[in-house]
Order: sequence, then C-alpha cells, then structure tokens
Amino acid sequence: MEASRIDLRALVRPEKGLIGKTIFSDEDVYRRELQQVFARCWLYLGHESQLPQEHDFFTTYMGADTVIVTRSDGKIRAFLNACTHRGMKVCRTDRGNAADFTCPYHGWCFSSSGDLVGVPGMREAYNHQLDTKQWGLREVAQLDTFHGLIFATWSADAPSLATYLGDMSCYLDRMLNRMEGGVEMIGAVQKWEMPVNWKLIAENFLGDSYHVGTTHGSVVDIGFRKRPKKDGYQISIRGGHGFGSELGGFGASAEPTPYEAYLNTVRSKLTAARNPVDQFIPLGHGTIFPNMSFLDGVKFRMIRMSHPRGPGMTESHTMCFVDKALPEHLRDEVRRSFILAFGPSGMFEVEDGEVWGEVCDGLRGHVASSMDFNYQMGLGQDVPVSEKFGGDLPGRAGWYWSEVNQREYYRRWLELMEAK
Ligand code: FES
Ligand SMILES: [Fe+2]
Repeated sequence: MEASRIDLRALVRPEKGLIGKTIFSDEDVYRRELQQVFARCWLYLGHESQLPQEHDFFTTYMGADTVIVTRSDGKIRAFLNACTHRGMKVCRTDRGNAADFTCPYHGWCFSSSGDLVGVPGMREAYNHQLDTKQWGLREVAQLDTFHGLIFATWSADAPSLATYLGDMSCYLDRMLNRMEGGVEMIGAVQKWEMPVNWKLIAENFLGDSYHVGTTHGSVVDIGFRKRPKKDGYQISIRGGHGFGSELGGFGASAEPTPYEAYLNTVRSKLTAARNPVDQFIPLGHGTIFPNMSFLDGVKFRMIRMSHPRGPGMTESHTMCFVDKALPEHLRDEVRRSFILAFGPSGMFEVEDGEVWGEVCDGLRGHVASSMDFNYQMGLGQDVPVSEKFGGDLPGRAGWYWSEVNQREYYRRWLELMEAK
C-alpha cells in the first residue's frame, strides 16, 4: 500500500486519543516521513563544544541521510556525506580533525568547506573540462544554533530556527543557559541500533512518565532513584515539542549524592529570583519535534537523537552534557550516572529497549497492525501553563500521567505528512 493511498487522517486521530498502529510499521509511511518530516524540519546535529578547533568534524544523520558537520574558517557547516562523483561516503569515521576529505572510491577530494579541490586525472581523463565549482558537497539549506545546539534543515523555505522552536525556547533556555557559559558535551557520542520505530522513542521521552513505575520498577527498588512522586506535569508546546517535569525532583536518589547536593544549591539560588519558569529546573524529560530528545535530571543530563534506519530500526545517538561552570570533581559522577542509566547497557536503556522491541515485534501481524494505540490519558483536561504556574508561560499543562504531549506531537506529524 502506498502512503498516498493510506488515509493517514483516518489513522491519526489525536482529538480522540487514537493512533492507528500502521504508522509505526509501514514502509511507505516511512518513505513519506523521510520526505515530509525529515527533509523539511529543523534537525539537531550536535553541540558547538564537539567542534572546538578549526577543521574539527563529526558525522551524524539528518533523517536517513548521512551528514558531516565541520568547522571551517571558524564557521560551522553541514554537508551530505556523499561524494558527488558516485555517492561514496567521503568520511567514514565518527569524528576527528581534517582540512579535507578524500573519497576512498576514486579519490575526489573535498575541503572542509565542501569545495571540490582535487580530482585524479583532471588533465588526462577530464581534459580540464570538469567544472569543479558545480561538484562540491551538497550543503544543508539552513544552519543555525540555539545556546550552542546546532540545528539544520534541507528546506530553504523553512521558517527560522527561532520560529521553529517557538514557545519551547523559554523552557530550553533554562536547561541550556541556567548558568554562566551555558552547557558543554562531555565524553563521546554513544551509538547503537534498536529494532523499534523511531517515533516510539521520541514519544516516550516526550511525555511518558506513566511507564517509569512499571518498566523501571527495578531501578527504583535498588535505590538508583526515588519512586516518582506523580505530582509533576506534562507540558505541551505548539509544534509537537514538549516535556515532563517532576518539578525539581526528576530522577532524584533516595539520599542526595554530591552532585545532587550541588544542584540543590544552584537551584535555590536560581529560584530566588522568582521567575515562574525556574520552577522547571531541571526540565525533566522531553522531545523537540521530530526526533531530538533530552533528559535534564538531577543525576545526569543527556541529549539523544533517534535516527530512523527504516520503519522498524532506530540508531540512537546519545551524549551527556553538563553546565560549563560545573566544578571538575563533580563531572565524573554525572558521566557515570549517565552511562549507568542510559548508556548502551544502562539500566533504564535496557528496560526501555526490551519493551520497545517487543511492541514493534507485535506490529508485524496483520490483525495487530490494523488496531489502534490508546492515547486518551487526560484527554480534554489540560489547561494553560500560565494558569498553573503563573507568569505568561506558554503551552498547555496536563497532569504527570497525561498524554497531552503525544496528542499534540501526532497532530503536528499528521499536518506535515499531509502538507503539499
Ligand atoms: S565515488 Fe567518490 S571519487 Fe568516485
Ligand atoms: Fe523509560
């Protein structure tokens, strides 16, 4: 069945809290997502602190397209990681420092600013006729940063990054800019694949506090974190973004660790200013539409990309970050907590991965795939954030176990999928 023949509107009914399971397994829906969602949205690439020096680079994905992100003449740029001769990846490592990239197939050479600067046999084979200016690496249409986070889009018509993030910016600001100097990434990007549709990961981080007590019950039992208090909120932002906050306690240990004690001091200083948005420090769990998720907790902080590798496979790229101002002796505690919880064999990660894999395995059957998932929790009960938390804070607030965020996420997804 072609996606164009699938009636997506009949499947995706967020106003009723119903989403047809087909959108998580169908190959044609996936192909359409690459075009309608991933080729048009602003996508997270990485953080400026991953490219401190001239000619530093790293590789990642935008949707299913492989890209290289470079620093060239001080400027951050992003290119399709595909040789313009016959498509070979010109860079096959995760990160490094290189002034140019030589294609391993026939040897075309591209500078870190994307220009084609060397062609073997330019005289004998091409008779100097090849117009190298036309054959540089394909560059993204727009690239911009927000507090050091690098985003790009393939769409020249896309509205600005500031417009795209919209009302989410004021909350993200408290995650990324709560202390002098902002944040920086530490350690390497953790990468692994999971047999799951990418949206199930994005929507879990976006607004699924409901699963914590069940899926992660054992982590609570061994004292890694306190039992969730269920007095937090899910905050839904127009455009499909959102987050869930336990209002200061997200992921706390039964007994505060040195880093947690430090963070408590920081938080009391910040909240003294009585800015209503500071109630959301740390921000909690969330997703920037479509596939950038984050955890901003009291034990560790991370950003995670769920790169689609087909309808039933996702490549996760996860990285730990800290406030730049964080004292050196506390960094290792944050990094270790991150690995222990959300590294490839982390306690939370393994539990989530097991569940997501089984959900997707169950979607293979004909009967199962013709049914709906239920997103009716807290339907019609969300209120303006400002009503709950004061000030003029944007967004809608649902209770801690509301699925208000997922409903807005799939409303936005449908809007993009159907757009001309
Ligand atoms: S594919 Fe790169 S030089 Fe031929
Ligand atoms: Fe989880």
